[in-house]
Amino acid sequence: MRELIKRVLQCESEKPSVTIAGWVRTRRDSKTFSFLEINDGSCLANLQVVADAGIEGYQQVDRMLTGASVEITGKLLPSLGQGQKWELHAQRVRLIGEVPADYPLQKKGHTLEFLRSISHLRPRTNLHGAVFRMRSRMAYAIHQFFQDRDFTYVHTPILTASDCEGAGEMFRVTTLPPDKAAQDAEDFFGKRAYLTVSGQLEGETFASALSNIYTFGPTFRAENSNTSRHAAEFWMIEPEVAFCDLQGDMDLAEALVKHLVLHALEKSEGDLEVFEKFVDKTLRERLEFVAERPFERVTYTEAVELLLKSGKTFQYPVAYGLNLQSEHERWLTEEYFKKPTTVFNYPKEIKPFYMRLNDDDKTVTAMDVLVPGIGEIIGGSQREERLDVLLENMKRHDLNPEDYGWYVDLRRYGSVPHAGFGLGFERMLMFATGMGNIRDVIPFARTPGSCDF
Ligand code: 4AD
Ligand code: MG
Repeated sequence: MRELIKRVLQCESEKPSVTIAGWVRTRRDSKTFSFLEINDGSCLANLQVVADAGIEGYQQVDRMLTGASVEITGKLLPSLGQGQKWELHAQRVRLIGEVPADYPLQKKGHTLEFLRSISHLRPRTNLHGAVFRMRSRMAYAIHQFFQDRDFTYVHTPILTASDCEGAGEMFRVTTLPPDKAAQDAEDFFGKRAYLTVSGQLEGETFASALSNIYTFGPTFRAENSNTSRHAAEFWMIEPEVAFCDLQGDMDLAEALVKHLVLHALEKSEGDLEVFEKFVDKTLRERLEFVAERPFERVTYTEAVELLLKSGKTFQYPVAYGLNLQSEHERWLTEEYFKKPTTVFNYPKEIKPFYMRLNDDDKTVTAMDVLVPGIGEIIGGSQREERLDVLLENMKRHDLNPEDYGWYVDLRRYGSVPHAGFGLGFERMLMFATGMGNIRDVIPFARTPGSCDF
C-alpha cells in the first residue's frame, strides 16, 4: 500500500521502506542520478526523490515528465538539501501514466482565467490544491461548530415547489417536452417544480420540532448577475433556532464566522502561506483582526444615513427604502467601520415575506453580515411567528397561503419565536483565502452562460 506524502513528511524517524505515488512536478537529471519532485495533493509540499541510475525501473525515468503519474518505493532518509526534512532514496520507480508534450500545466504562472478553462486539471496547481483542501477543512469546521452546540443536521430537498426568497430566480425542473412546457398538471410532479434557492422554509419545520438545526447543501439561483461573487449553483449553511430572536441570531452568525476564521488560521497546514504569497499578503493579519474583535452592528436606517453623509459618489443611488448595493456594503465595512458589520432592521418592502415585522410597522428583523473585500456573506432574520401577521405579509407579497399551508401550520400548532440565517459557503471561502472570484473557490463553477465539465 502506498502512503500519502503528507504522512510521510510528518514521519518522526527514518523508514527503511516507503511507497508513495503521485504526479511529477519537476525532474532534474545528472549523469548518475535524477531528482524528482512528487506531489500527491495530500498537502502543499512535494516529496523529493533521489533516483540513482541502475535502480529497478530507472530506464523509465526519462519519460517521467511534469504531470506524469508515478509510483516510487524507497528509503526515507534525512534530506541533505535545504527546505525539507526528508527525502526518498528510491529503490524502485514505476511510470504509471505517461504525459504527452501538450500537458497544459508544464509551466507556472498561468492566469486564473486560463485555469478555469481547465477546471479538470487545476486542482493539480499549488494554488487550487490549497483552495480545495481549505474548502474541505472549512466544511468540516462547519459541522464541528454546529455539532458541538447540539444542532441537528437536516437534509432539506433540492427539488421544491416553493420560492423561499420570492425573487423568482428559480431554475425550473421539468420532464415535459418543450411544446408542452405550459401543461403543468402533466408534468412529473403534477405541478411546476424548481431547484431550491434555500432550505430555510423546510428548515423552519424541523426547528419547530428539534429546536436547533442546520442545513448545509447546494442551492441554485437563476439570477443573471455576472459578478465575481455570484454563482448559479452555490452551497449554503442555514441554521435555524427555535426560541431565538434577532439578537441571538446575530450572535450566532458572528460566532460562526469567527469559528471558521480561527479554523482557517489554525488548521491551514501550510496552505495559508500559498494564499499569502500569491493572493493577498495581508490575509493572515486580516483574519486575525476579524477573529479577535466584535463585529460592528448598525441598523439599516443608520447605515443609510452614514452613506448619505459619506460624501462619496456611488454608482447606485442611496436612499431609505432602496437595497444596499455591494459598493455601499463595502464602503461601510472597508472604509467606515473597517471591520465586519452586521446591518439589521431593513424596510419591510425590500425583504421576503417570512421576516418578522417590527413594532414600528416599517421594518423587519432582517440582518446581513458584511465583510471587507466581499460585502454580504450572511443574510438572515427572525421569522414571523404570529399567524395573523404572517398571513398579512403573504398577502402583501402576492403569495397564496394555500400553497404554503404546511408553513402556515407551524404558526397554528405551537408556534415559537425563531430565527436563522444563510451563510454563503463560497463567499466565506473567498474571505478565508483572499481569492477574489467565486469561480476559483468552487470545483466546477456554474455561472450565466457557463456550465462546463
Ligand atoms: O441572503 P440570502 O438570499 O438568504 C437566504 O437565502 C435565506 N433564506 C437564508 C436564511 O435566512 N436561512 O442568501 C444567503 C447567503 C448570502 O448572504 C450570500 O452569502 C449567499 O447566500 N448567496 C450567494 N452566494 C453565491 N452566489 C449567489 N448567487 C448567492 N446568493 C446568495
Ligand atoms: Mg441576502
